[in-house]
Amino acid sequence: MVAALKNPNVDFRHRNLLGIEGLSAEEISLLLDRSDHYAERNRSARAPGKALSGRTVINLFFETSTRTRTSFQLAALRLGADVVNMAVEHSSIKKGETLLDTALTLNAMHPDVLVCRHPESGAVKLLSQKVECVVVNGGDGAHEHPTQALLDAVTIRRRKGRLQGLTVAICGDVMHSRVARSNIYLLHTMGARVRVIGPPTLVPGAMERFGVEVFHDMALGLRDADIVMMLRLQLERMQGSCVPSIREYFRFFGLDRQKLSNAKPDALILHPGPMNRGVEIDSEVADDIGRSAIQEQVEMGVAVRMACLEVLTRNLPRLEDG
Ligand code: NCD
Repeated sequence: MVAALKNPNVDFRHRNLLGIEGLSAEEISLLLDRSDHYAERNRSARAPGKALSGRTVINLFFETSTRTRTSFQLAALRLGADVVNMAVEHSSIKKGETLLDTALTLNAMHPDVLVCRHPESGAVKLLSQKVECVVVNGGDGAHEHPTQALLDAVTIRRRKGRLQGLTVAICGDVMHSRVARSNIYLLHTMGARVRVIGPPTLVPGAMERFGVEVFHDMALGLRDADIVMMLRLQLERMQGSCVPSIREYFRFFGLDRQKLSNAKPDALILHPGPMNRGVEIDSEVADDIGRSAIQEQVEMGVAVRMACLEVLTRNLPRLEDG
């Protein structure tokens, strides 16, 4: 099935990239194939081409970010775009301007792409309804983080050669994780088997309706897994305490060598970052270059964002010179 989906000419039918939900396997494959292309270009001395020359990309981040914002910026610059990073802390948002007023103000400057991260689920979609440019979701609340799921998928596909049929264990704070949600949609659509593992307080109810298996015990959940995806404990999103103590959390749900031994001997470790060492993951496994693909995920982040920007702006009209 998956081999037949490798059609480079399939069209991407969406104006924006707000989430993985609703994307077909063909559309996901298109983005993954383009990401592979840019990953190779980024490793070689060959210039990636200027698919975004004359385009303007605005990064509008209402939440902190290291990897996502930097890699969107680098991706846009590498493809020849002009990039503006809006520093929310220095903008009128601090003076009480609403999200929608900000959107209308930026829209009046005619950018081609707006990349937005916001702490509220659904805020990026709302913004996309008010502007004329392409909108890319850089993470909205606990809802979706589509480019993270795509970069995880490229990393897995490059190491394992496929997604279909793999067993992927997503471990930890699933409740507050937009990374988990986007990954579940993507992996399910691409034919992987998905498990989620975490304490009952950090795994939402009725997860089975997303086609995933739920475990509350790491040894059982990790058994024969091909991919072990660790999630950060998102203390900033928790209302009240969801874990008795960090020490106890690490003891039962932190990934260390012993718990990892339940997975396949060649299981790959992923983490979207930022990592809390000694909380959800032990340094010994995080830094094991034979097993951990964490740095490769960061590398693929640039390639995936290049692919998304290119595919989304391909058919946009261009201003004529003169
Ligand atoms: C994630 C995020 O912001 O959702 N980080 C990222 O984009 N690399 C995960 C997290 O914050 O834990």
